[in-house]
Amino acid sequence: MNEPRQADLKNSNGVSVAASELSLRSEIAADAANAIEVDHIVKKYGDFTAVDDISFTVKEEEIFGLLGPNGAGKSTLIRMMTTLIPITGGAARIMGHDVARDPDAVRRTIGVIPQALTSDLDLTVEENMSIYAKLYDVPPKRRKEAIDELLETVDLTKWRGAQTKTLSGGMRRRVAIARAIITQPEILLYDSPTGGLDPVTSTTIVELIVKQRDVYKTSSLLVTHRLQDAFIMATHYFDRKANKMIPLETGARCEVPMAFLILREGKIIFDGDMDELAKSKDEYIKEYIS
Ligand SMILES: Nc1ncnc2c1ncn2[C@@H]1O[C@H](COP(=O)(O)OP(=O)(O)OP(=O)(O)O)[C@@H](O)[C@H]1O
Ligand SMILES: [Mg+2]
Repeated sequence: MNEPRQADLKNSNGVSVAASELSLRSEIAADAANAIEVDHIVKKYGDFTAVDDISFTVKEEEIFGLLGPNGAGKSTLIRMMTTLIPITGGAARIMGHDVARDPDAVRRTIGVIPQALTSDLDLTVEENMSIYAKLYDVPPKRRKEAIDELLETVDLTKWRGAQTKTLSGGMRRRVAIARAIITQPEILLYDSPTGGLDPVTSTTIVELIVKQRDVYKTSSLLVTHRLQDAFIMATHYFDRKANKMIPLETGARCEVPMAFLILREGKIIFDGDMDELAKSKDEYIKEYIS
């Protein structure tokens, strides 16, 4: 009832604004809330198309799950988005920065937890952190404090002096996560962070990802083979006071909705939320999630 009439709408210079321009602006505003935009992206290796015309968006503060069988193209997609390999066609934007045109800005905005474990195994946990702190220009005065905080966050304080090669698989993943969050990036891209871990250890990694979402409001793209991981993320929150992940009431879903893509042979075969995924009638998807 109190809505202004079209003729009353004025911009800051007092000039009337056309409805079409207003709707364009609201579209731009909606885009601004996207942390990641992938637009018809393609990766070819010779005649083979590893990623075939994929588009999706990840909203700010959301965890977006990317699932799919071995060889589906998940890591190839992440490698393009993190500037590691050239894009054959289409585009990707990270916080508005075009990956192909402004790779440096993209690298400054993201933290990456790669699929292969890339921590230097001969170095201690602390040395692994310290190299990254230097690489990412954390000022010398801040470095020790930053490393102390990180080790606390990933629960490795006791192990700071241990050589990385003496740690278990789960602990090494924690080292990789600590390194990726050293600059407190706006966006984290995790490639199979629970791959090869037992279910209990996997849950400790999921807890760290949920902590980044709920405490630091980081947007994340998560590649995983484990639908259970995504399910835990959608049904738990991180409680700061208790310093642990707590389940929501039965049937409740996390405030930040989770969206999923399932890839197969480079193409999207599912795009939707957890409930839609559970209801899918597609035979392949039913088998994949069972
Ligand atoms: N450098 C390359 N040259 C040629 N083909 C490649 C190259 N890298 C990846 N591929 C192919 O692209 C396809 C997608 O590989 P990718 O590593 O992205 O799969 P993925 O979904 O990450 O699988 P996984 O779940 O096993 O990690 C595979 O068929 C792979 O063999
Ligand atoms: Mg992979």
